[in-house]
Amino acid sequence: MAERVTEPNCPKAVRTVAGTVVDMSLAVLVSGTGSILDAMVDAGLPVALVVSDRPCAAVSRAAGHDIEAVVVRRHSFGDNFDRDGYSAMLADWLGERGVTLVAMAGFGTILGQPFHDRFAGRVLNTHPALLPAFPGWHGVRDALAAGVDVTGCTVHLATLEVDAGPILAQQEVPVRPDDDEVSLHERIKVVERRLYVDTLRAVLAGDISLESAQSRSASASEPANEGATS
Ligand code: GRF
Repeated sequence: MAERVTEPNCPKAVRTVAGTVVDMSLAVLVSGTGSILDAMVDAGLPVALVVSDRPCAAVSRAAGHDIEAVVVRRHSFGDNFDRDGYSAMLADWLGERGVTLVAMAGFGTILGQPFHDRFAGRVLNTHPALLPAFPGWHGVRDALAAGVDVTGCTVHLATLEVDAGPILAQQEVPVRPDDDEVSLHERIKVVERRLYVDTLRAVLAGDISLESAQSRSASASEPANEGATS
C-alpha cells in the first residue's frame, strides 16, 4: 500500500517554545514546495518529523534542516485509492513515533476516519481563503472567480469533513485588480506563513486550547467556521 523512504533522523530530545518546555511532538505533513515548513523551522518551532505523500521539494527542505523526512507514498491517486487504509497506516506510524500534534502544510491527501480517530482535535491545517468561503482545492482560484475584493487565509482544526473544522485564526489579504492565481496565492502565503507559525506557537505554549476550540464548535448552535486542505 505504501512505501517509506527515511532520510537521516534528528529528533529533538527537548523541545522548547519561548522558553517553555513543550510536551507535544509535532509532525508536519507536506506535499509541495514546503515554504510554510521552512517558516516553521526558521521560527524555531520544534518540528520532530516531516511526512509527505509523494516526493517533493518540501522533503528536501526538511532534510536540509536536518529533520527526519519520510515519504509515505500513495500508490494511487485514482478511485481505487484505499483512503482509510492509508490513513490508518499513517496514523499508526505517527503514533508509534510519539507524535501528538499534526500540522498539515500543503498536504495533498484528504485523510480518512482512522486518522481523525487517532488524532482527534490534534490536526491543524492552513487554507488559502477565508473559510467558510472558498473551501476545497482551489480556494485562491475560486475567490478570484467570485470577484471578491478581499480574501485571506485560515488556520483551523482539520476534521473528517474537508475545510470544516473549528477556526483558530484568520487574516485578510486584499485582492489587487491585476492579480492572477499565482500572484494572489504568493501574497496569501506570505501572510499564511506568519499566521500558521504564530498559531502553532500559541498551541504549543498552551495559549490556544485545542480542546476549547473543539468544544466551542460542538456546542455552537450554528455549525462552527469550517476549514481544511487545499
Ligand atoms: C498553502 O497555501 C496552503 O494553504 C495550501 O498549500 C500551500 C502550501 O505552500 N494548502 P507550501 O508548499 O508550504 O509553499
